[in-house]
Amino acid sequence: RTARFTLDPAFTVGAVNPRLFGSFVEHLGRCVYTGVFEPGHPTADAEGLRQDVLELVRELGVTAVRYPGGNFVSGYKWEDSVGPVEDRPRRLDLAWRSTETNRFGLSEYIAFLKKIGPQAEPMMAVNLGTRGVAEALELQEYANHPSGTALSDLRAEHGDKDPFGIRLWCLGNEMDGPWQTGHKTAEEYGRVAAETARAMRQIDPDVELVACGSSGQSMETFAEWEATVLKETYDLVDHISLHAYYEPHDGDVDSFLASAVDMESFIENVVATCDHVGARLKSKKKINLSFDEWNVWYMTKTQAEVSALDWPEAPRLLEDNYSVMDAVVFGSLLIALLRHADRVTVACLAQLVNVIAPIMTEPGGPAWRQTTFFPFSQASKYGRGEVLDVRVDSPTYDTAKYGEADLLHATAVRAEDGSVTVFAVNRSRTGALPLEVALSGLELTEVVEHSALADADPDARNTLAQPERVVPHPVDGTSLRDGRLTAALEPLSWNVIRLR
Ligand code: AHR
Repeated sequence: RTARFTLDPAFTVGAVNPRLFGSFVEHLGRCVYTGVFEPGHPTADAEGLRQDVLELVRELGVTAVRYPGGNFVSGYKWEDSVGPVEDRPRRLDLAWRSTETNRFGLSEYIAFLKKIGPQAEPMMAVNLGTRGVAEALELQEYANHPSGTALSDLRAEHGDKDPFGIRLWCLGNEMDGPWQTGHKTAEEYGRVAAETARAMRQIDPDVELVACGSSGQSMETFAEWEATVLKETYDLVDHISLHAYYEPHDGDVDSFLASAVDMESFIENVVATCDHVGARLKSKKKINLSFDEWNVWYMTKTQAEVSALDWPEAPRLLEDNYSVMDAVVFGSLLIALLRHADRVTVACLAQLVNVIAPIMTEPGGPAWRQTTFFPFSQASKYGRGEVLDVRVDSPTYDTAKYGEADLLHATAVRAEDGSVTVFAVNRSRTGALPLEVALSGLELTEVVEHSALADADPDARNTLAQPERVVPHPVDGTSLRDGRLTAALEPLSWNVIRLR
């Protein structure tokens, strides 16, 4: 049976915030060291930043870059990471049982962003695990105050005369998680987040603040956590965070392919909770969502990997190698974010390099694109504009976790010039999916391109030995006639159909 939907510019979801295409650099494994930063690498610049990686980061189309964690931030002492490199202390990183050299720090992070280009924006997390209000304020003063105070002058002394201008701040990380150093109850966290936010706004009322939401929809405290935290912070923060990672459990691939069903319900449940608190407070303000960690992550094997570590520097950790099937699920997660662009105004793909990442590197060697690189770069390139409201009528399949799930998952974005890009995933492992899209009130006459990521072997991957085994390919036969788009979506495929 054919899957169908209608596109009409009168029915929209909302404008895509460029921050939807954010990512994340944590001091974890080889994300920083031998990832973005490797002095001595043949492509490294004077600051030790790998140019081969920078080129791929630009091509990926990343905007906001969250830093320095993650779980790492809950033990982070920002002052260790600034000033002369030779004076920076080596520290235990409790989150990842590793040794942190602090060779790469705050100034290097800002330099990295500048080199990505003007589209890159800092998104800095403060430590509310082992630290609190005072240290957050010190970091903010060091980073953002122009001059004439001890900490802003210290920044200038360290070689950074111009303030960093960090506008977007995360108030801690995953404080609901028992694994978090300094884990708190919702009440405890709500109070410290509110006090930190209030004080940070005393320095600068225009900062944008993200309060920690839940580390996943399956957390026992989910929803009650958000409600409690927001009761304390509603007027003081702009966003609440969501984190979600997906992998097949017990070989249940069908449910894995429908992971976006969970992601969409997570988003909708957090929106409902935010609006419920807003209603109770009789507030006109809306809290937006920062989905600041999302990805496919084969997490079940990570715990053992980490506990086996004996405080090495930059170990190989969380280096998942993504298949075509993973990239299709990943693309579907991107579709879920775009479908909620009215309320999800920040999102960060966790992470950027080597650690559950779209970009991989070899120390001293090359950098290459994983399968997940392509859906992200295409969505970032063509997913700018207004999201159209897509309601699919699709054949379904059975999943153990989510019941009946649509085979088609889709969204569409209309750019300023009137062109439209359809992003679509066919979840079927066995059959091509015929697609028909009725175009109403859209002056579109031509299919510019239909590109698909799919493979006869859904387990195909890019590796050091075969870095270009999987790349998107053009699809023939897609047509646009009399206001009707017709296409065939290959089994297990991510599709980008550009119309003008
Ligand atoms: O992204 C990897 C880890 O996942 C982050 O450090 C943490 O916030 C989450 O649990």
